[in-house]
Amino acid sequence: MEIFIGTEAECDELGAREIANQIKSKPDCVLGLATGSTPEGIYRKLVEKHRNGEVSFARVTTFNLDEYVGIPESHECSYHYFMDTNLFRHVDIRPGATHVPNGNAPDLNAECKRYEEMIAQSGGIDLQLLGIGPNGHIGFNEPGTPFESLTHVVDLTESTINANSRFFESHDQVPRQAVTMGIKSIMQARRIILVAKGASKARVIMKAIKGPVTPKVPASVLQLHPNVLIILDHDAASELTSCIK
Ligand code: PGA
Repeated sequence: MEIFIGTEAECDELGAREIANQIKSKPDCVLGLATGSTPEGIYRKLVEKHRNGEVSFARVTTFNLDEYVGIPESHECSYHYFMDTNLFRHVDIRPGATHVPNGNAPDLNAECKRYEEMIAQSGGIDLQLLGIGPNGHIGFNEPGTPFESLTHVVDLTESTINANSRFFESHDQVPRQAVTMGIKSIMQARRIILVAKGASKARVIMKAIKGPVTPKVPASVLQLHPNVLIILDHDAASELTSCIK
């Protein structure tokens, strides 16, 4: 596991550069993408790199980690909407090449199976971008999720509902369920980049990187992956750096 610690701008630049380099080395690569406030700066930098002519998404395929259940794709808190406004509409990716789970599918279990099959048919994910929840979740894999899990429907924990209520008008409007790629789906990616920013992530980053590998801290599973880069701003790294000093 490789760890980079820097300013927020350095984290965004490194994240974007890693993704751009992946695309340059394999123009028809498959990217696993994340939502939330953490990757916004990375997507901004990627759009800049696209506008500068440095990177083309013309042959790229993407799969997003997750989506809420029961809000329309056009809702401004949906992850479809997030991806469209933060990345997809600003680059030359083909419309059919972007995938986000359908949280409104009439049969959600069938949707999970379909999503997993599409990832496999695409050849698997070359580079998976991840954030981390204050409770250690990756995607919406909440503490206790089995490491063997594939794409599935989850009941969101109170901690996640509270953390995400900042994006909604009120706490009551936060969906209670989501569809998420599972831990195994994530671990099958050939390379994983986890990004964390801010002091609210410091404790969980310490646990995920230095603590025991346990489903109680879903991100700790990354210790078992052979090709992981962790990108941290100084605040998110503060407990790690104080233990190294
Ligand atoms: P955030 O969310 O980037 O908005 O902090 C990360 C996550 O919950 O995975």
